[in-house]
Amino acid sequence: MERRQLLKQSAFAIAAFSFSRELFANAPNTHLDFNPSALNSSNMLSSMIRLGSNENPHGPSTLAKQAMIDAVSISNRYQWDMNGELKIEIAKMTGHTKDHIALGAGSSELLGIVSLWAAYKKGNVVASEPTFKLWMPAARRMGLPTKLVPLTETKHNDLNGLMNAMDEQTRMVYLCNPNNPTGTVSPTSALEDFIKKVASTTIVLLDEAYTDYYDTPSMSKMIDTYPNLVIAKTFSKTFGMAGARVGYVLAHPNTIKQLNEFQAWANAGPSAVSMQGALAAIKDKAFVTYCKQENIKAKEILYNGFDALGIKHIKSFTSFVYFDTATYKKDIPALLLANQITGARSFEQNSSWLRISIGTVAEMEKVVAVLKLGA
Ligand SMILES: Cc1ncc(COP(=O)(O)O)c(C=O)c1O
Repeated sequence: MERRQLLKQSAFAIAAFSFSRELFANAPNTHLDFNPSALNSSNMLSSMIRLGSNENPHGPSTLAKQAMIDAVSISNRYQWDMNGELKIEIAKMTGHTKDHIALGAGSSELLGIVSLWAAYKKGNVVASEPTFKLWMPAARRMGLPTKLVPLTETKHNDLNGLMNAMDEQTRMVYLCNPNNPTGTVSPTSALEDFIKKVASTTIVLLDEAYTDYYDTPSMSKMIDTYPNLVIAKTFSKTFGMAGARVGYVLAHPNTIKQLNEFQAWANAGPSAVSMQGALAAIKDKAFVTYCKQENIKAKEILYNGFDALGIKHIKSFTSFVYFDTATYKKDIPALLLANQITGARSFEQNSSWLRISIGTVAEMEKVVAVLKLGA
């Protein structure tokens, strides 16, 4: 594709993306992930390096792909048995029982279900700013206003600040650990204290989408003691199945029952094809290990590039990095886009900090080369 044609199409994609943001104009502080549908029409996906949605550039694994191909032929049938089968395998993987698990079409669906549960109790939700907010506009429309609490100076969740922001109307606190977009983790003991204090009265929705990258300890060991604690997990990241839409929550069996009542039908989430993929993905441990190692290698390349250019960045426990563009002379998203790299973007108003997803080693080498040439 001609460079000029590509830039023209990129401009179109950005315009379409901006338009989709406008649709959410009534929802302040919404962050939408990069909108690939804007690119689909111009068939640009294959030519662009996509670093906007923290997708795993290596997935799905060969075993998961084959399982999904094989499952296509049985997708005329409802997936009754598979739901239980997948819950049993997730239970083995996480050290719980199938009664501690609800499945969804990605963890996003379940973040919505948990906020519906909280909205039903009437009140407000407390969360960090910035954090993963894709589910918040729907929660607000369901009558669950959001109280946002700035991160600390070091871009960590401010656990005390979150507790201080709670009032008698607070029905839920959402916490993303490691946090998206900053990649920071809270110390385990501080998190435990936080859960002990908050979950005795209030729903704590703990989003652990990225714990697997660095084996960040899961707080799921606390779900039996704290029925208000709901842990959200996904097959979209280390398992590399974002488009297959498989997620789950871990919670006390009584909590799972209550959440199931907010689902039209507890078996309606992931498709038969996706569940077969997830079952195979759980078995393919070598693939997950490979993805984690590649993520570290690719991230080191980016860190080294940033260091060489004097770009401040935060050590990330995830598959993305938060960095400060204040010392770089050019507009980094525009520079990257002109070189067919999309996704570096801002999550804070009037801030020089951006997030970029970690792609393959070759992709991050290209990012660094572009930044060095542009400096
Ligand atoms: C923190 C966090 N939670 C949840 C999700 C949604 O994941 P899923 O694909 O499981 O809906 C994402 C996706 O990027 C995320 O970053």
